[in-house]
Amino acid sequence: MLDRSERLVIETGKMDWVASPASGVWRKHLEREAEESGETSSVVRFEPGAGFNMHTHTNGEEILVLSGVFEDENGRYPAGTYLRNPAGSQHTPLCAEGCEIFVKLEQFQPGDTERVSIDTGKMDWLPGLVQGLSVMPLHSSGIEHTALVKWDAGTVFNPHTHPGGEEIFVVDGIFQDEYGRYPKGTWLRNPPGSAHHPYSEKGCVILVKVGHIPSPDRPVESDMRDQTRVGNDRSQGLGYVVPDPRNRPNGNP
Ligand SMILES: [Fe+2]
Ligand SMILES: [Fe+2]
Repeated sequence: MLDRSERLVIETGKMDWVASPASGVWRKHLEREAEESGETSSVVRFEPGAGFNMHTHTNGEEILVLSGVFEDENGRYPAGTYLRNPAGSQHTPLCAEGCEIFVKLEQFQPGDTERVSIDTGKMDWLPGLVQGLSVMPLHSSGIEHTALVKWDAGTVFNPHTHPGGEEIFVVDGIFQDEYGRYPKGTWLRNPPGSAHHPYSEKGCVILVKVGHIPSPDRPVESDMRDQTRVGNDRSQGLGYVVPDPRNRPNGNP
């Protein structure tokens, strides 16, 4: 497993593309366990007509299509589509029109077998916890919660701590906190226990994941057992209150 104890800020707009093993497929590596395997987070660009060999996702694949149209034998996914291909799924991407995607490999929570395909461009935004903030919950699996969050210009959120860490990809606009200014394409990883006071002067849309980063003094397994803490603890900073799993009919958040 990757060491995620350090804060990381990577402005992908300033990085060079690196050739992948497939012709016409380029990458920007954000974090990776090994050369071509293990836990990996990256931005990938498919030139028009480029594809990747058929492959199996040992522990899942999570994708947000940033531009163009991502495509495989299961469908055509325009910019804004959020995809989750669970463990054991296979596909052969072939992108006629070309695209750019943010992709996380081999990082699913134990037991997360749900296949997800959401065209976020066709979904409604819900009101967030403060004025100017809108949220679109995308997926929850145990301690991990993922959402798109839209900040109107001038929105200031509450100061908060991330007991289970936080990961952000800036999809559009400029996200800010007291430590910096993060333009479109920036990826941030805030470790468990970190805190900040985020805002956005110009407005932005961010993909946010919280709760999923383990810390030595608080292993994820203990929170997996104590699901009642999920709603008000590990999900801090998400922009909305995750429903208490005890109130769900099937007990799954
Ligand atoms: Fe894949
Ligand atoms: Fe946060």
